[in-house]
Amino acid sequence: MATIGPIKLKHPVVMAPMAGVTDLPYRLIAREQGAALVYSELVSAKGICYGSRKTLKLLETDEAERPVGLQIFGGEAGVMVEAARHVERFGPDLLDINMGCPVPKITNNDEGAALMLDPERAGRLVGQVVQAVRLPVTVKIRKGWDENHVTAPQVARELEKAGVAAIAIHGRTREQFYTGRADWDIIREVKRAVDIPVIGNGDVATPQDAARMLEQTGVDAVMIGRAALGDPWIFRRVTHYLDTGELLPMPTPREKAEMAVRHLRMAVGFKGEPRAVREMRKHIAWYLKGVPGSARIKRLVQEMTEADRVAETLLEFVDGLGAAADEPVETPRARAGRAA
Ligand SMILES: Cc1cc2nc3c(=O)[nH]c(=O)nc-3n(C[C@H](O)[C@H](O)[C@H](O)COP(=O)(O)O)c2cc1C
Repeated sequence: MATIGPIKLKHPVVMAPMAGVTDLPYRLIAREQGAALVYSELVSAKGICYGSRKTLKLLETDEAERPVGLQIFGGEAGVMVEAARHVERFGPDLLDINMGCPVPKITNNDEGAALMLDPERAGRLVGQVVQAVRLPVTVKIRKGWDENHVTAPQVARELEKAGVAAIAIHGRTREQFYTGRADWDIIREVKRAVDIPVIGNGDVATPQDAARMLEQTGVDAVMIGRAALGDPWIFRRVTHYLDTGELLPMPTPREKAEMAVRHLRMAVGFKGEPRAVREMRKHIAWYLKGVPGSARIKRLVQEMTEADRVAETLLEFVDGLGAAADEPVETPRARAGRAA
């Protein structure tokens, strides 16, 4: 089984860092559903150094979610080193550095995916962070900046020299953002380029996709992002399939509504009712994807401000579905996955 520094992964399936999604409550749910490792969203190294309360809240972790990685982004070595030392005090199992964020606000500052343009600079920056902390340091990279700058294998070699414990690679260039198909060949190239563990990422939407990525690229683990939106059960389905070759059924509307309610309660506990209710709207829309007749409920929930009202509405809705409440919901993406 894959190991990252001292961390032994129980399964070769991890949850991708996602801004606005992989907060502490959702990470706990993903771990409970079998993700072998979870990450925070990207957190600004500068924000950490300024010590803004909102930023520091993003660094909170819980014993029950271990192993957990906290991800930071930045472009200046001094700031990254200082931020990494702060992060270490929050007690994560690993520190991850973001070299994949494609957003102009970040890349224009030479942060995120902009680091893919200069492999040596990326290696130097990461090397300084590795030297500054005892935590294992990992990096999440992309294929490159664009098709003329496919730098992932060079960046990976520089990172290995710099002493990182593992690399996750998303098989798209910065220019692609999230469009097109993830390139699994580049993932295989990165795996071959280094001796440290490599985690493959991009377009794993079904258990079969996960098995194919592992087989085609030789990576040590797969990382799942968008397919886990509203579907934390994906981790259980994937690990079960890898272990047994059996496909578990998709969740039912009742399971989805009950999970959404539990997620909401956890979010209220973690960040207070007003914020939790607001932020849960998108999660609820994701949970209800593919559930027949849920459009009206999704609209209603958008207007609500009280957690109890939201919970009641969701549970009454599934009760009203009759027998359909307990029939698995097939979504087009989960059915088709990534065409072989
Ligand atoms: C809503 C959203 C937020 C994301 N935020 C982050 C982030 O904070 N850090 C990061 O490294 N990648 C982030 N990503 C990229 C994902 O980690 C992942 O690389 C990408 O979605 C491809 O994997 P997938 O095909 O399984 O979704 C984000 C993606 C999405 C959809």
